[in-house]
Amino acid sequence: MRSSVRLAIAALVLTLSPHLVQSVDTDTDPVAERILRTALADGIDLAAFNFTAPALEEIVAWAHFDAAKRVPADLLHPARGATTVDVHAHHVPNWFRTIMPSDGGMPTPVWTLDLQLQHMANQSIGRSILSIPKPNIFLGDKNATVAIARLLNENSAALARAVPQRFSFFATSALPYVDESLTEVKYAMETLGAVGVALTSNHEGKYLGNPDFAPFFARMEAIGAIVFVHPANPLLEVAGTFLLASPTVYPQGIFEFYFETARTFIDLALSGTLQNLTSVNFIIPHVGGSLPSIIDRTINPNAIAPIMQAFRERCWWDSAGPTYTHQLGGLLAYNISPSFLLFGSDYPWIPAQLVDASFDTIAASPFLDDAQKQAMKSENVKRLFEGKIKF
Ligand SMILES: *[C@@H]1O[C@H](CO)[C@@H](O)[C@H](O)[C@H]1NC(C)=O
Ligand SMILES: *[C@@H]1O[C@H](CO)[C@@H](O)[C@H](O)[C@H]1NC(C)=O
Ligand SMILES: *[C@@H]1O[C@H](CO)[C@@H](O)[C@H](O)[C@H]1NC(C)=O
Ligand SMILES: *[C@@H]1O[C@H](CO)[C@@H](O)[C@H](O)[C@H]1NC(C)=O
Repeated sequence: MRSSVRLAIAALVLTLSPHLVQSVDTDTDPVAERILRTALADGIDLAAFNFTAPALEEIVAWAHFDAAKRVPADLLHPARGATTVDVHAHHVPNWFRTIMPSDGGMPTPVWTLDLQLQHMANQSIGRSILSIPKPNIFLGDKNATVAIARLLNENSAALARAVPQRFSFFATSALPYVDESLTEVKYAMETLGAVGVALTSNHEGKYLGNPDFAPFFARMEAIGAIVFVHPANPLLEVAGTFLLASPTVYPQGIFEFYFETARTFIDLALSGTLQNLTSVNFIIPHVGGSLPSIIDRTINPNAIAPIMQAFRERCWWDSAGPTYTHQLGGLLAYNISPSFLLFGSDYPWIPAQLVDASFDTIAASPFLDDAQKQAMKSENVKRLFEGKIKF
């Protein structure tokens, strides 16, 4: 693997910033060796996949990354007053972009540490909780899904460890594969330091209220997990093949994703899962997507009390997207307390200029006063992650 490693590192350096240049060798590197060995001990044969070598190169580069030397001091540490915490932030490893060149009908964006830190400086974000919730690139291929989940967790952990003053991360599960997900989440949280778990609205077509997922959520309940949910493409399995179940010609990531959030939380509610999980806190993206519009229609008024109690007491709503001009009003009309609102940027899937624009709409939003807006960016999230993140 040696010469290919050198080449890949040269390519990697191009997409990172010049001050990130490293020289590493995954053949002899103890980090790469540990990753392969611990995965094998969990039944995951990473060596079987051709995305493993480039992934290890990237992970090893972060493991050896000397942030103090290579990142300008004004970007490395949050500026005074940069107290916002971003719960909806994605990093995109280069190896992952290669196997997932687009998602939600949109090209996968290039992510660099430099741009991420600039974005955070621009928006006064002190800390970003990074997530990559979707390991289901090769649909129906359990081994590949499990391997990708493991490599994503190792990658997130290495990055967060390299720049601990700015990053935390959510674990990637291996759902819809439940036993493997229990192993993966345990490893990501107990060994790698994930602060919660990121799921998608459906995993290979199964929504989160699916009875198959009951043992997974029983574990989430037992550990009192924070579960961040992200929308995904709707899928239909037809005779063993997965089809995109979206009749629209528009990018799924723009419109369909809001319906996905609604579908999965309605499924969690109507299946009884949401009400049962009294120790789990959910982070719901885009202040609920289309969910608020359909709660009254979907849920029998006689059954709604415990569901609304769960939505009001154990669900947190991130601001990602242009959500504060009109949409937030629909959510707050259900007597959701503004103290459960969180900040989310969705960078880099939402490009920097649009993040700037939605920041302005938060400032102009008629639905919250200044103190509530400030709490949304900082105090609320600190209450949620108390004991899990050292702010
Ligand atoms: C990796 O393997 C897959 C499936 O075996 C193949 O389709 C793909 O072209 C390979 N990618 C590279 C970069 O070799
Ligand atoms: C940060 O702000 C500067 C100045 O407005 C702008 O040029 C740059 O594109 C922004 N970068 C990011 C990643 O948001
Ligand atoms: C999946 O991985 C297991 C364990 O490494 C292996 O025994 C099995 O043959 C693999 N399945 C496929 C379809 O490659
Ligand atoms: C909810 O909890 C009850 C009581 O423990 C249990 O009987 C039921 O199966 C659970 N339902 C779901 C969907 O978790």
